[in-house]
Amino acid sequence: MRGKFITLEGIDGAGKSTHIEYLAECIRKRGAAVTVTREPGGTELGEKLRELLLNRDMHADTELMLMFAARCEHLKRRILPALASGEWVLCDRFSDASYAYQGGGRGIPADRLVILERWVQDDFQPDLTLLFDLEPQAALVRRSAQRDADRFEAQELAFFARVRDAYLKRAAAEPTRFRIIDSGQSRELVRVKLEKIIANA
Ligand code: TYD
Repeated sequence: MRGKFITLEGIDGAGKSTHIEYLAECIRKRGAAVTVTREPGGTELGEKLRELLLNRDMHADTELMLMFAARCEHLKRRILPALASGEWVLCDRFSDASYAYQGGGRGIPADRLVILERWVQDDFQPDLTLLFDLEPQAALVRRSAQRDADRFEAQELAFFARVRDAYLKRAAAEPTRFRIIDSGQSRELVRVKLEKIIANA
């Protein structure tokens, strides 16, 4: 039986990375094997592209196309084979991040994203997308306590407000695929919610 493809999304500092291993544990408890991976990245070539994407200045269109190039490699060489072998795949960001960051944040028109998404994915979409939602100011406080900012994290609050807005619009448009997690709650409450979501997945 094909495994399930679950993606985690949200603005930087919203807490996806804090919860991804816990989610993997919940899935293993159900008796399924799970691959944990991330975008941009997830393959040797993808991780090289990530390094460039997070650190090198580039045109917004170049950024968008490199995101999808990394995704193409990841999807075809890693995600699809894992799913076909029955594994579940937990992915820290996927195409919704391109719509939110390159679309909402950078202002690239959605029709350009649709073309790349079709090219790379055909009709493939996540089975479930967990959107960790947090107010941009609170996310900034969280991430500045954790690490130095990369190219995206160095953006101003208005950028993250646009990214968040784009995520929430996508979630509203596809309510069966998305679950919105209120990241302003305690870690424990978030875990309880995640456990329930996985139990019903
Ligand atoms: P992130 O996944 O948040 O990793 P970390 O927690 O280690 O910083 O960082 C990846 C960055 O890439 C994030 O700022 C969002 C950005 N990104 C896009 O802009 N578009 C995309 O399509 C993807 C997958 C990521």
